[in-house]
Amino acid sequence: MWIDFEPVGRRVEGREGQNLLEIARDAGVGIASLCGGQGVCGACRVQVLEGDITPQTTLEQEAFSEAELADGYRLACLARPLGDVKVHIPPRSLTTEQRLQIEGQQLAVKVDPTVRGVAVQVPEPALTDLRSDVTRLADVLRQGEDVVRVDSLLLRQLSDRLRQEEWAGTVGLRGREVVSFYPVGRGPLGLAVDLGTTKVAGYLLDLVSGETLGADAIMNPQIPYGEDVMARLTFALQEAEGRGTLQRVIVEGLDRLTQALCTGAGRRPEEIADAVVVGNTAMHHLFLGLPVGQLGRAPYVPAVSDALDVKARDLGLTLSPGAYVHLLPNIAGFVGADHVAMLLATGLWQEDKVVAGLDVGTNTEVALKAGDRLLTCSTASGPAFEGAHIRFGMRAATGAIERVHLRDSRVEYQTIGGTPPVGLCGSGILDAVAQLRLAGVLDRRGKMKDHPRTRRGEKGPEFVLVEAAESGVQQDITISRADVGEIQLAKGAMRAGVRLLLREAGLNEADLDAVVVAGAFGTYIDVESAVTIGMFPPLPPDRFQQVGNAAGLGARMVLLSRAQRAKAVEIARHAEYVELTNDPNFANEFAHAMYLESKM
Ligand code: FES
Repeated sequence: MWIDFEPVGRRVEGREGQNLLEIARDAGVGIASLCGGQGVCGACRVQVLEGDITPQTTLEQEAFSEAELADGYRLACLARPLGDVKVHIPPRSLTTEQRLQIEGQQLAVKVDPTVRGVAVQVPEPALTDLRSDVTRLADVLRQGEDVVRVDSLLLRQLSDRLRQEEWAGTVGLRGREVVSFYPVGRGPLGLAVDLGTTKVAGYLLDLVSGETLGADAIMNPQIPYGEDVMARLTFALQEAEGRGTLQRVIVEGLDRLTQALCTGAGRRPEEIADAVVVGNTAMHHLFLGLPVGQLGRAPYVPAVSDALDVKARDLGLTLSPGAYVHLLPNIAGFVGADHVAMLLATGLWQEDKVVAGLDVGTNTEVALKAGDRLLTCSTASGPAFEGAHIRFGMRAATGAIERVHLRDSRVEYQTIGGTPPVGLCGSGILDAVAQLRLAGVLDRRGKMKDHPRTRRGEKGPEFVLVEAAESGVQQDITISRADVGEIQLAKGAMRAGVRLLLREAGLNEADLDAVVVAGAFGTYIDVESAVTIGMFPPLPPDRFQQVGNAAGLGARMVLLSRAQRAKAVEIARHAEYVELTNDPNFANEFAHAMYLESKM
């Protein structure tokens, strides 16, 4: 019998008597599991879309609501296929490695990029044909009266290249400008970048087929100069050469990332003929070397908010000689092009329902689509979800605890890569706080109570999650009262943002038809944990959609499609920015939103 696993796109053969978790594991499809397949942790939830399967067990009837059971939700470790079945694995049930693989998948947009690959066969010069090299190429490319021109840097290489390739090849044509030249059989590549405050994600795309050839990420090399946006703006303003340093290190970082992507795909950065970069307004300005004084001071206005096209070489980036970098428009000082890309990728901007969108990161942007209005705001959630300021916090890498489940006094956990734990990534921290709250170890204010696993640490009370003997760092892995406080601040800012936008639209949380959660971290978190600690409103689980790095997806869409590029401009124009600090209710909402409880 054959089992189709979505969205990983794997079709695998299962043996009779095997459950879905075993079949997935044999095939290398990573489904989460905390209890080793005993049906008690609920981490392996999947949805059976088609086919015959063994009847629901009592444990499953307890684990799911009636609506979920009716929709085919099952625990993969308890459900055994009886024939061919099709199974959907929700993002939260996928292991981190698997989720990363899915992010690189093909896009569903019509490929119509700004830079097109056009195959050319140029007539060789002869005593009877003395046209210049550029003229003979331009004549081949001429469309009616439209004459093409060649980028000035490419011009320095073109004559030699044409002769090396024996007058045949493919040019990268951007409007009427030739920006790159390739041997026969090769064509223009594109680079899409999500320039985050903490992480920089890059995607290499084939601009002819639209295929994603590689995806990779680096930590933002500006971090040593300031962890969050404000610290970086301060560095840029107060240090001599501060702005120049930040621009230089991010360009060097992007060059390294581009080189790694190209090496992985067997290509060269010089083949990249177009790039799209999205980031928050501060990252956008620092990347371009724009003034940031006005961004760091009230009323926080950007130097420019329109979409821009800049020659890559003017920024110091090593791409193809004539390549441009396209920057999407910004909405406001703290709602940037990355949010525009997210709104585009999720389709949220044209929703008919009441939908909130959260792009969870060091700064969390919140959007609300209600009727004709598209409201946006920014909340300073800080880097706690990326593991910063948390004693054993770390980014989502091998050995990070990504799931936690507390049973009596036993802690069950899952690490990325299944190796001994070395720390906690954002989703693990969130799970840990939620589990401690459910077990009564934390009260609503985040105060830690006595428990066999709590003790007094250097910085106040702490809970031992993993003992030294079991950990990969030869010391106890703990979560402290101070760590919990960091999470309270981060999630409080986010929830207050959602509530204030709803208030602005005359609505409340119960009116939300859907909540779209984007951002790498947003995909990995357990929605139930997030609801338990009051980070998300108390809505049924099926109203939440976790969509991964939507800003990166939006950047790729804009790279591949001129129509999507135009839509991004429309979104930025339509969006209304709400400045939370102007709102008299903000302080009160924020204070309440810090409580570890769902109802407000
Ligand atoms: S692995 Fe299925 S419930 Fe734990």
